[in-house]
Amino acid sequence: MKLKIAVLAGDGIGPEIIEQGVAVMSAVARKFGHEVEYREAICGAHAIDVVGDPFPEETFQLCMDCDAVLFAAVGDPKYDNDPASKVRPEQGLLAMRKKLGLYANIRPIETFDCLVHKSPLKDEIVRGADFICIRELTGGMYFGPKKEESDEAFDTNLYSRAEVERILRVGYKYALERKKHLTVVDKANVLASSRLWRRVAMEIMKEYPDVTTDFMFVDNASMRMIQEPRFFDVIVTENTFGDILTDEASCITGSMGLLPSASTGEHTPVFEPVHGSWPQGKGLGIANPLAQILSVAMLYEYFGLNEEGRLIRQAVQASLDANVRTPEIQIEGGPRYSTSDVGQWIVDYIIK
Ligand code: IPM
Ligand code: MN
Repeated sequence: MKLKIAVLAGDGIGPEIIEQGVAVMSAVARKFGHEVEYREAICGAHAIDVVGDPFPEETFQLCMDCDAVLFAAVGDPKYDNDPASKVRPEQGLLAMRKKLGLYANIRPIETFDCLVHKSPLKDEIVRGADFICIRELTGGMYFGPKKEESDEAFDTNLYSRAEVERILRVGYKYALERKKHLTVVDKANVLASSRLWRRVAMEIMKEYPDVTTDFMFVDNASMRMIQEPRFFDVIVTENTFGDILTDEASCITGSMGLLPSASTGEHTPVFEPVHGSWPQGKGLGIANPLAQILSVAMLYEYFGLNEEGRLIRQAVQASLDANVRTPEIQIEGGPRYSTSDVGQWIVDYIIK
């Protein structure tokens, strides 16, 4: 297969981890005889510094012109501490989602047996947890009408029937391939937007009689997720709830550095780690490249290249088993491996 990939490194640890993602992507391509062409583009704080826009038109056009986007992370503390700043790196990410029509954010939560001790939760609770959170990504409060004045502000949690229906159908597609259990997370006891979600879901669920559908209020779901994470198979929820729940879910796995994601929809899909740009780790060679590398696995799988994806997952598992790990998950007293050591080990495993 021929693939044209836009590479958006962004800020902080982004360039270091994406270098490993690209190396792994190339190793797999060589092994399976695929032809991959990479095109780099700027985004985030870096793009603000260069052209004053966190998602420049040129970057957008390049993304539109490619088969997929490999994205690392954006964000810089110099903007976090300045609420008055007119433009922020995160706006670039939101613009990318909106302009590419990426309404479905797929965040799988998988545990690695050898890392369950790293989770703040008890071993017997997290071991074997394996679910997927499907977060609606281009609607709700993030994009609804807003007002921001000195004494008053609001965001609007606006959803249309069509937006709810299409994300639910993505959820059912995954549920049918998995354990056929779909949980719609909402706040229908309080929010009108959630009652629309529930109404639409109650209609759509009839078309999927093989899938068990249940409904959970978001406050209850956030509790259930750490009390009994194995309850879940596929979660479908709105943008804001999905943002919050997936950070919570990342604790189950023991390290946020392990969670990949895919954002798909109308135009070019984007594959990126769930974690952010971790500015404190920048340039130190200690960032975990696994979430980025697993995002490459999701990219291959998106194009139906499941063997390729499987090899990457197997290589990641092997690196963990061989204790070739970045500091935050390393076994105490063991040898220290850098971001590029881990990437190189995985590349060697793939090409051997
Ligand atoms: C995420 C991030 C973003 C979000 C931020 C950086 C805008 O937290 O991808 O989960 O809130 O969606
Ligand atoms: Mn988030």
